[in-house]
Amino acid sequence: MFRTLQNRLVSAKPVFLAAQRGYAVKSVPLTAETYSTKVSRNPNFKKLDEQDLQHFSSILQDPHGLITGEDDLLFYNEDWMRKYRGQSQLVLKPKSTEQVSSILKYCNDQKLAVVPQGGNTGLVGGSNPVFDEIIISLAGLNKIRSFNEVSGILKCDAGLILENADNYLAEHGYIFPLDLGAKGSCHVGGNVATNAGGLRLLKYGSLHGSVLGLEAVLPDGTIYNSMESLRKDNTGYDLKQLFIGSEGSLGIITGVSILCPSRPQVFNVALLGVSSYEAVQKVFVGARKELSEILSAFEFMDGKSQLLTGRHLKIDHPIESAEYPFYILIETSGSNKEHDDEKLETFLANTMEEGLVDDGIIAQDETQLKNLWAWRESIPEASTIGGGVYKYDVSLPLKDLYGLVEAVNEKLVEADMVGFDDESKPVVEAIGYGHVGDGNLHLNVAVREYSKTIEQVLEPFVYEWIQSKKGSISAEHGLGFQKKNYIGYTKNDVEIKLMKDLKKHYDPNGIMNPYKYI
Ligand code: FAD
Ligand code: MLT
Ligand code: ZN
Repeated sequence: MFRTLQNRLVSAKPVFLAAQRGYAVKSVPLTAETYSTKVSRNPNFKKLDEQDLQHFSSILQDPHGLITGEDDLLFYNEDWMRKYRGQSQLVLKPKSTEQVSSILKYCNDQKLAVVPQGGNTGLVGGSNPVFDEIIISLAGLNKIRSFNEVSGILKCDAGLILENADNYLAEHGYIFPLDLGAKGSCHVGGNVATNAGGLRLLKYGSLHGSVLGLEAVLPDGTIYNSMESLRKDNTGYDLKQLFIGSEGSLGIITGVSILCPSRPQVFNVALLGVSSYEAVQKVFVGARKELSEILSAFEFMDGKSQLLTGRHLKIDHPIESAEYPFYILIETSGSNKEHDDEKLETFLANTMEEGLVDDGIIAQDETQLKNLWAWRESIPEASTIGGGVYKYDVSLPLKDLYGLVEAVNEKLVEADMVGFDDESKPVVEAIGYGHVGDGNLHLNVAVREYSKTIEQVLEPFVYEWIQSKKGSISAEHGLGFQKKNYIGYTKNDVEIKLMKDLKKHYDPNGIMNPYKYI
């Protein structure tokens, strides 16, 4: 019988995001102890003393601008995955670019090491200290500076929360050209510092293209400002690019000027069940061709990631009919509802007829649309269900993308480590999902607790595998602490030398986010 997606449509069910995290909350190990063989405190760095505290107080002129209490420091010292923990005794919360400049100048003169911190949602241990580095939080610099309704250029402080920026733009008919699951906490400055990719890079491109200008403070206190940059400006080196993706290694971003597209009026989201990775690729090729300019996201998730997510959210999968080895989330966005609806429905019906898609649902309203996205965005949190997660965020040629998950699963099975329901096994599950549209895989190894034994099975195996396929060991999350020793798997010696030269030039004392990046 002729099958179409339409006669298989079911309503997407509400997805509730679990508010609380930490199923098996274990204390977070000290980074300096876990990785004691890989890192030791730089003896050239000064240790914080009373005089320094007084000096910072005089700069900030606000008792809430300095955090020193042990319990209050915990949030800033620990990372989102509860994998890394630093030992900072001080968080500073400046409220102006000038205050950031005075703080950095003093730290540079005194050789006090610092860690810039945005929303602390980073996934490579970049936003937390390793030893006693001072944390400079940008949370107090959170204002919209201006928005031009004609050009679509938003100028804001670096500490503005991404979701707040997007909500503001929505009121003006515009959209922030980046969206990601951590939008409620991450900062625009943090996004720029990590060159975050996210869910709609396929449509809006990377921040290297949409950021027009930046304001940033160099370690010696110099304020670099290119906030007035125009869309076209070929006068000399494009210096802002140095800071995009620099992960706090060169300076602190305090302001961002970004070009925002007009907000699409119509969004459609469909979730599809497919039987093979081969089919995922074919559906992607077809979607690019047939949905063309309205295709705004193409995400894939393997079946195992869905089991974890279902268990985490404590609800059934939105596609209840059967379990599939792979799922695809497609989003279209445009300006003509009739056109977009018809395009997507025809495309999906064709993929079913061709046997590429086995089942699927299309969100029927705004709530269902949000629920389907929430399902996808819950995977990172679901991966922490057992107690911890080893994350590998990689770029690979499309044909090899899922091969990494299969190779790692084989390796873990060989080592007799995996047991979804067997608590005696250290690994819960190795799952794969990600932004297929950008050639970006997220391999997550959900574990019951972080352990050297598991890490040694995974590393450098994963990095060697990626290198053998000419991929990148960091597609969008960055290098941070996790990958600083592995950069050579993706960059060559000349590239690494040039990076080190830059770092030495702008940060000769090495105070900016030490022990990380390169
Ligand atoms: P932080 O985590 O605070 O910092 C990250 C790095 O940037 C650190 O090295 C820090 O020192 C530096 N930094 C922060 N602010 C500044 C500044 N103002 N100046 C200089 N350096 C600074 N990432 C993606 O790319 N795509 C995704 O789809 C995605 N989804 C996520 C979903 C979840 C649930 C979570 C928890 C994370 C996700 N991430 C994703 C990772 C993370 O959210 C992004 O990397 C984000 O851009 C980090 O922003 P932040 O403000 O939290 O920065
Ligand atoms: C995502 O795509 O969900 C993010 O990059 C976060 C993650 O990989 O955990
Ligand atoms: Zn991602």
